[in-house]
Amino acid sequence: MGSTAAASASALPASAGAGENLVLILDFGSQYTHLITRRVRQLGVLSLCVSGTAPLASLAGLRPCAIVLSGGPHSVHATGAPSFPQGFLDFAADAGAHVLGVCYGMQLLVQSLGGAVEAGDKQEYGKMEVEVTAQSSALYGEGETGKRQTVWMSHGDEVVRLPVGFDVVARSVQGAVAAIENREKRFYGLQYHPEVTHSPQGMETLRHFLFDVCGIKADWKMQDVLDEEIRTIQSMVGPDEHVICALSGGVDSTVAATLVHKAIGDRLHCVFVDNGLLRYKERERVVSTFESDLHLPVTCVDASEQFLTKLKGVKDPEMKRKIIGREFIVVFDNFAHKLEQKIGKRPAYLVQGTLYPDVIESCPPPGSGRTHSHTIKSHHNVGGLPKDMKLKLIEPLKLLFKDEVRKLGSILNVPESFLKRHPFPGPGLAVRVLGDVTEGNALEVLRQVDEIFVQAIKDAGLYDIIWQAFAVFLPVQTVGVQGDQRTHSHAVALRAITSEDGMTADWYYFEREFLVDVVNKICNNVRGVNRVVQDITQKPPATVEWE
Ligand code: XMP
Repeated sequence: MGSTAAASASALPASAGAGENLVLILDFGSQYTHLITRRVRQLGVLSLCVSGTAPLASLAGLRPCAIVLSGGPHSVHATGAPSFPQGFLDFAADAGAHVLGVCYGMQLLVQSLGGAVEAGDKQEYGKMEVEVTAQSSALYGEGETGKRQTVWMSHGDEVVRLPVGFDVVARSVQGAVAAIENREKRFYGLQYHPEVTHSPQGMETLRHFLFDVCGIKADWKMQDVLDEEIRTIQSMVGPDEHVICALSGGVDSTVAATLVHKAIGDRLHCVFVDNGLLRYKERERVVSTFESDLHLPVTCVDASEQFLTKLKGVKDPEMKRKIIGREFIVVFDNFAHKLEQKIGKRPAYLVQGTLYPDVIESCPPPGSGRTHSHTIKSHHNVGGLPKDMKLKLIEPLKLLFKDEVRKLGSILNVPESFLKRHPFPGPGLAVRVLGDVTEGNALEVLRQVDEIFVQAIKDAGLYDIIWQAFAVFLPVQTVGVQGDQRTHSHAVALRAITSEDGMTADWYYFEREFLVDVVNKICNNVRGVNRVVQDITQKPPATVEWE
């Protein structure tokens, strides 16, 4: 990750955990880095993920109790292999922090402290057995000698010589160094990934490390996050300043708005933009929920023509996202202008429901060779705002994962049905109609297919098990036969995934009968569709959305 997350970390209010019980995760590019962050939070401890190569100055003010150096795809010997900034180990010592290197992080620690890492004879990928070899160790506790556990390994290089003061406390059954420690200097290393579920005892090791070794307290609670956010917003927004918020109908913006409303009351003005890219009957459904359940003051703006005109003929996914991002800002600016005329004061702030994964994904890891402009997808609510935007941002969920936002929403009494809604991307159906969204009646066809699919999932009682389900309109026509007639109609794809936070995902395995029924309903009820396929790709390598 780059500076954005580092900036959020240093902007963190002290009462949110910085300097008390904070765990800092230094990201060296592993696909599991965010999982470490989540696991620590699941244990009730605030953790923040920052770039492994972030300048020391960006960490100033943070006094972490523990620092985890993540894994990464590199060899420490590769040219350009990422490393923590000079002076980092002194920073850790000054903070009194315990440092745990995981996989690449451990090798980096070893190499930096004068040990040796070499390409291993036997590379270890996948499930492995490791055995605690030390009589007593900080990482595993007393009386664990000789005990074995299954862990997830993913390394080509291995530690062949330890730095002075270190002991090996566990080895793989193949003999490779699996865990090391230097208790006096508070340095620890695990060659395997304790954060993944394939290391069944990994969570226990992390728990033991945080609470017994580092002496951290599990004091990070959603109620405290809420109270702190409210205080921050109240002190940031002046007593006669006004704030606007775009409600998308999703969990994030709804929770963000409810939170800000609690902080500043009716100086919050919400707008719901119909951009012409919404789902079936979305506008009616969402507005009625805002009004009757949430009592949030909402203005509904129909900007569908404006968006669709700008999107006409545009096929490139990134271009579509950028255009949508830009148009949203134009609409907000107009809304703010009209509001100014009404209340006699221009709103100063804009609330956005940006989440931590958006921030992480918009900042490629060090050593990836990617920069901000080579982001996988521009999530238009991060970094896509024009420089001359006249509104300052309030992003109260910027440090939270989705499940944490749901917990926050629950404390804020946002209806359960709302909190359980599947995520819906900001650019809406534009990223689900591949290519030009304005061509033919693609949007209308997609709405109908999507509604049938999602309703069937609800009827089957699967909605809460599935993390996200939706249909995709494919710009291809296929030959079919319906009612003895040859047809040449569109193919659509169905995607249903399970996930913890959208960063990685698995496809959901439906029963055959369910699929048969859904496909029948789609082909019999939606004109212009004669073929349905299911997307059975995990993330990675695919992303959740098709564009
Ligand atoms: P991807 O497709 O990146 O999606 O694997 C991960 C999660 O993010 C949602 N998503 C978005 N959300 N603005 C959003 O607010 C966006 O531009 C955007 N793109 C993807 C996606 O639906 C999934 O839940």
